[in-house]
Amino acid sequence: MTEPQIIGISPSIEKIRRLIRRVADVNLTVLITGESGVGKELVARALHYYSSRRDKPFVKVNCAALPGELIESELFGYEKGAFTGADRRKPGKFEAAGEGTIFLDEIGEIPLPMQAKLLQVLQDLKFSRIGGNQEIQSQARVVAATNVNLEAEVSRGRFREDLYFRINTISIPVPPLRERREDLEPLVHFFMKQFKKEQALEPYPVPDSLMELFLAYHWPGNVRELENYLKRLCVLRNATEIREELRRSLDEHPLRAAGDNGPRPSEDFIVARVTREVRALTEGAREFPSLREIRDRAVERVERAILEYVLREVNWNRREAARILKISYRALLYKIKEMNLRP
Ligand SMILES: Nc1ncnc2c1ncn2[C@@H]1O[C@H](COP(=O)(O)OP(=O)(O)OP(=O)(O)O)[C@@H](O)[C@H]1O
Ligand SMILES: [Mg+2]
Repeated sequence: MTEPQIIGISPSIEKIRRLIRRVADVNLTVLITGESGVGKELVARALHYYSSRRDKPFVKVNCAALPGELIESELFGYEKGAFTGADRRKPGKFEAAGEGTIFLDEIGEIPLPMQAKLLQVLQDLKFSRIGGNQEIQSQARVVAATNVNLEAEVSRGRFREDLYFRINTISIPVPPLRERREDLEPLVHFFMKQFKKEQALEPYPVPDSLMELFLAYHWPGNVRELENYLKRLCVLRNATEIREELRRSLDEHPLRAAGDNGPRPSEDFIVARVTREVRALTEGAREFPSLREIRDRAVERVERAILEYVLREVNWNRREAARILKISYRALLYKIKEMNLRP
């Protein structure tokens, strides 16, 4: 295994790097959480790499890719004749991991009955192959990852609380890229170097105009999405198409791109504002409006309120307001016109 490189200068990434080294050799289950593409698997590999298990196997199980009834045989293996089709013994992933690390990706997708079984294995450190009665010692370190909110799954009865507590003794939340935009530049440099090394792709310098869009964009697909854009850029060797795509997305979802730095309306301000707007919506109405209607109109009104707030805050300096709201200048002018806003 080559050393996994977790790139980033944000305090949250620095904290994650420190945490990984601190817990790499602690024999407790680690739960890595975060949106799709933030680098959960990378963190799992780093945990393995910096532990004394480095030269032992790192075995990944994608729990979401397996139909429920196959997870058990995948994890624990089976004996010859355990079921029709089992024409020879097959070791499972726990066995394959040996004294290494077993990475349970998308652990939230494990069906409830299997969750009970997994919990038992984590507690007793013993399992047996399906159809077998020999008990096998489990020595693998368990690392799990999820992009669903397991706590919410627990409260909905879809994830066992006891298993949740068991796997969550150490948790490593990886924040979305839009909350650590200072990592964008170092990531761009890293990927350019990596493409060159691994795929002989010539680096293509990211023009300032594109970098600005990168800094404003909300990155729903996080680092993986950035990686894909950069790869395209190196292949196309032209930023126009990508710029257009990002612009369109920013114009369509200006609020999603709303910034995390600069003047920030307090939470109370927003809550009060939303409450007032929704009340105004429902009060005069003959019939109680549909949830959808309330949502659409509330979003519209809140958007207006936020725009007014920020514009006032920056004395109607539109460039500054666009930067704070992380929307393009063009998109802001359009909104001002559309909403008929005036100083
Ligand atoms: N901080 C980082 N430094 C360098 N590369 C990173 C970083 N974060 C993510 N990557 C890279 O981005 C890609 C996506 O990361 P990874 O597969 O670990 O994400 P994930 O959270 O497991 O995503 P998913 O939920 O979709 O499975 C990988 O190629 C990974 O190496
Ligand atoms: Mg993953």
